[in-house]
Amino acid sequence: MKIEKEDFLRLAKVIKVKYGLNLYEKKYLVESRLTNYVLDCGFDNFREYLETVYADRSGIEMTNIISRLTTNYTYFMRESEHFRHFKEQFLPETENRKQDGELRIWSAGCSYGNEPYNLAMCIAEYFGDRHSRWDSRILATDISFNALRMAKRGVFAQQALQELPQEWRERYFIKNTNGTYQVTDELRSNVVFKYHNLMEEIAFKKQFDLIVCRNVMIYFDEQTKTELINKFYDATAEGGYLYIGHAESAPKGIRYETVQPAIYRKALKGDN
Ligand SMILES: C[S@@+](CC[C@H](N)C(=O)[O-])C[C@H]1O[C@@H](n2cnc3c(N)ncnc32)[C@H](O)[C@@H]1O
Repeated sequence: MKIEKEDFLRLAKVIKVKYGLNLYEKKYLVESRLTNYVLDCGFDNFREYLETVYADRSGIEMTNIISRLTTNYTYFMRESEHFRHFKEQFLPETENRKQDGELRIWSAGCSYGNEPYNLAMCIAEYFGDRHSRWDSRILATDISFNALRMAKRGVFAQQALQELPQEWRERYFIKNTNGTYQVTDELRSNVVFKYHNLMEEIAFKKQFDLIVCRNVMIYFDEQTKTELINKFYDATAEGGYLYIGHAESAPKGIRYETVQPAIYRKALKGDN
């Protein structure tokens, strides 16, 4: 089903302002991802459907659209260089530096949960017997309720686990009778999933030792990216890190120091 140009431009503008996503060049994607849903809702054209979306003060219908328009592609061990840095640099350094027994990690744009679960596995492996001395729950957020629902369940197809070491598959997953694999309750309790729109203020109580925001900003324009990285910086503890996707470029003039491609650090007071 086709969407009229003016209806499309209005929708693209609303989504850009509210969620940062730039869909102006993606008219076909919008049509193809929403057509069946709009028809199932009982409308035979986009205009009437969108009027109900804009009139819905609860915002629920807009979140239904967003769940359909976001790209949630993700997989375990994606960009393994981050996991190497996490294990060899971030965890030892943070363990030595922190006195409060709390690791503050945020997976921003976590999609189906592969990324935060993967980090939680690395943490469990790294700390071993010392794990119980640390509160290392990872905050994992997204704007897609659909992705968040699946992430919370933590059920994955066998193929999705292929990049993980065999011992990790055995240690952190339970095989269901239908052949899928579910993340163990213990590992799931180490990840807290929440809805959070990155265009909104970051109002979490404490600053983070690590913010992981990978393959999310590719859909944002330069100004949106700059504003978001500035907010991340303010929400990062001194000595803390930011990981972004290797395909994403950080805007010029950011306050973080570059550690290596796609890894940034907020200087500790007293660093040169
Ligand atoms: C391609 S996935 C990346 C998942 C994971 N970080 C990775 O690298 O594999 C991008 C995710 O960002 C989320 N996202 C897009 N815009 C967002 C926003 N404004 N606030 C929060 N999450 C957003 C999408 O819903 C999607 O799940």
